[in-house]
Amino acid sequence: MGKKIKIGGLISGTGTNMDAIIKACEKGEINGEVIFVGSDNPDAKGLEKAAKKGIPTFVINYADIIRKFKQNPENYFFPDDFDLEDIKIKQSLLNREINSKKVATFIETRAIAEAALLKKMKDDPFDLLVLAGFMRNLTPYFIDRINITPGKPRIINIHPALLPSFPGVDGYGDTFRYGCKVGGCTVHFIDYGEDSGPIIGQQCFPITEEDTIESIKQKGLALEYQLYPECIRLFAENRLACVKMTYTDDKGNTRQRTVVKIAQIDIPSSDD
Ligand code: GRF
Repeated sequence: MGKKIKIGGLISGTGTNMDAIIKACEKGEINGEVIFVGSDNPDAKGLEKAAKKGIPTFVINYADIIRKFKQNPENYFFPDDFDLEDIKIKQSLLNREINSKKVATFIETRAIAEAALLKKMKDDPFDLLVLAGFMRNLTPYFIDRINITPGKPRIINIHPALLPSFPGVDGYGDTFRYGCKVGGCTVHFIDYGEDSGPIIGQQCFPITEEDTIESIKQKGLALEYQLYPECIRLFAENRLACVKMTYTDDKGNTRQRTVVKIAQIDIPSSDD
């Protein structure tokens, strides 16, 4: 078995997924260790759970930063390497109105918060950053400073729906309201869009007429606690690769799609 990977976590709430990941590491199911858990929310319950296990925690209070910036923007300095125009171009999430003042303020406030996040994480180098109920969009400013090796993304997220259906903040609720017959959860790499990165794994469950939003959430969370550690285990075993695959469309044109390939055997990493 290769070297244990170092995992950083970001949460916003109860942190039950983070807990499942920490437990999977403790049991040796993931060849890794969680080296910090950070949050944008000082009241996130998951912080206490991690701290009780001796894992370092920190908070970058996004709400506070955003409020204070809007009151007194002149008190804030953007990071030296911050380039608003570059971020606007990359931020496909917002590309319908990239020139509005609102969008600029959104990106500026997030970049200030993200610079603070990066500073906190700087002293604890990690191999993988897991988002486990982290309810903030990450901008290209942050993503580019984590994904430094081309073709080797290292931020992953769990989403409570079968992507690309129902991106956004309420995947299980949206699945229920739409009247779907199946619901599910998705683990994916992060890209510049909203819940749009390459898919690593998905699990699904049936939805009956008797189900409620709450019962769907419970079914989904039970699957999340298996799926997320399983995907992280594959990452830790260096078995995931984002590859561009070609196919021919119905007009005979060659097209590309990105697929996360899962190697069947454990490939040792270069520094093993
Ligand atoms: C989960 O449903 C996850 O899919 C979504 O937010 C929820 C977080 O729950 N992104 P928890 O904080 O892990 O308990």
